[in-house]
Amino acid sequence: MDYLSKMHFHYFTPSQKRPAADLLVVPLIQGKGHPTWPAALGRSSAALDIPIKLGDFEGKEGQISVQYHAKEGEPRTLLLGLGGAETLTVEKVRRGFALAAKTARTLKAATVALLMPTQKVLSEEELLKGALEGIFLANYSFDFHKAHTLKETPPFVIKGLQLVTSCKEVKAITERLYAIAEGVHSARDLVNMGADLVTPHYLAEHARKIAAANKKIRLTVFDKKQLEKEGFGLLLAVGRGAPVGHEPVCIIAEYHGDPKSKETTVLVGKGVTYDTGGLNLKPTGYMETMRCDMAGAAAVLATLQVVAALKLKKNITVVVPAAENSIGSRSFKPGDVYSSYSGKTVEVGNTDAEGRLILADALHYAVKKLKPTHIVDLATLTGAVEIALGSEATGLFSNNDVLADRLLRAGTTTYERLWRFPLYEEYKEGLKSPIADLKNHGGGRSAGSILGALFLQEFIDGVPWAHLDIAATAFLSEAKSYQPKHATGIGVRLLVEFLDPS
Ligand code: BES
Ligand code: ZN
Ligand code: ZN
Repeated sequence: MDYLSKMHFHYFTPSQKRPAADLLVVPLIQGKGHPTWPAALGRSSAALDIPIKLGDFEGKEGQISVQYHAKEGEPRTLLLGLGGAETLTVEKVRRGFALAAKTARTLKAATVALLMPTQKVLSEEELLKGALEGIFLANYSFDFHKAHTLKETPPFVIKGLQLVTSCKEVKAITERLYAIAEGVHSARDLVNMGADLVTPHYLAEHARKIAAANKKIRLTVFDKKQLEKEGFGLLLAVGRGAPVGHEPVCIIAEYHGDPKSKETTVLVGKGVTYDTGGLNLKPTGYMETMRCDMAGAAAVLATLQVVAALKLKKNITVVVPAAENSIGSRSFKPGDVYSSYSGKTVEVGNTDAEGRLILADALHYAVKKLKPTHIVDLATLTGAVEIALGSEATGLFSNNDVLADRLLRAGTTTYERLWRFPLYEEYKEGLKSPIADLKNHGGGRSAGSILGALFLQEFIDGVPWAHLDIAATAFLSEAKSYQPKHATGIGVRLLVEFLDPS
């Protein structure tokens, strides 16, 4: 949140002397005998040796032990088990250091010194990246609504890091990863905040703030009147039931980082600020989390923020169709036909399949007006993707193998993993309408996520395109390692890696 000041960093080589921090993190690699100490420790102090000599601490993955010292150096040391070298991965480093960050926060350690483990599997750079990502992503709390409890128990976050590493690029890596983490945190905040605050106009204001901070960004916001003039019939239909002040908008933010190049990546994010389902109202148990239905929008806006902060030499345009899918006397109606930006008419089989409607208009606008080299959309589109993949992978759909492979690679690197689904022609039967060009939903449950993607594909005129269904990965009911409960900020790290592979 805003009240959290920036973290500060100090860099040391293993042989340099440092001032004492509030906590020293000592990562250990499990071995056949005793675990391996980090070489940077210099000595295995007698005090630290005790749990190891006793056999209490083997360095197993996820194992921790806090040691206290009365004399010189840090008052506390955290022994952090990372498991055996042969099974060590960057993701295990992230998780290990996320656990260290959480422990530091519980101990109210404001400054933390980090040593890197000694092993031969990962490079110094990989270790550093994993450690920093784990710390940054776990150093988040959302306490915006805790008016009273906040005063009694203010959220505690780590304020400073001492990085002990021989990695030469330490400063550049730290600054880049910190900027990305700030993006992730801002995406999380935007989703967590709540739908009566984060309205379509609020998203537009948020985009305005990002644009105001960078001269290279040009912002256009279509309000309801302009959407009518431009012909965004589906976005307007979805937003029709919303109250005064919550009307739909379409946000277009163009970042020109490489004016000489004709390449432009368009990122589109679903911005349904609340999804009641509309007249096909969602039942109790399915609506309570629906402030998360703008997580795609939050991710692409945060990506823009990061891209601008890192001054990437790329052209990126972010498009966010934003609407509140409300129920009321003015709501759009199941069985009626509405006209899209492309001119294709759509019979509304179900008002709860609203994401594909607003995205259809935004995608076609991108195709017609923004000269995209390729388009990637992020959307909390279908509950069905959770049935298929659970929350460990985001659904990927694409009409282009090269684009899909680039995204898959970024997914592997960041561990925001993607799994590709087919876009079989045969399933298009499910989009046929007897009275209009298309139907948004045929009534069945079969191939639900694919049908959503196939509907979107009708509006992209063959432009290389990928759709990421983040319905199951954007919002968690329980925390997992460095992902907090509720908004995860998924997509930001993935997109930055996709745009600018590290
Ligand atoms: N916003 C939902 C999808 C969703 C579900 C997001 C769970 C996050 C968590 C979407 O608009 C929706 O309601 N989809 C329907 C589609 C159906 C009517 C074809 C669904 O998944 O049931
Ligand atoms: Zn819906
Ligand atoms: Zn929705």
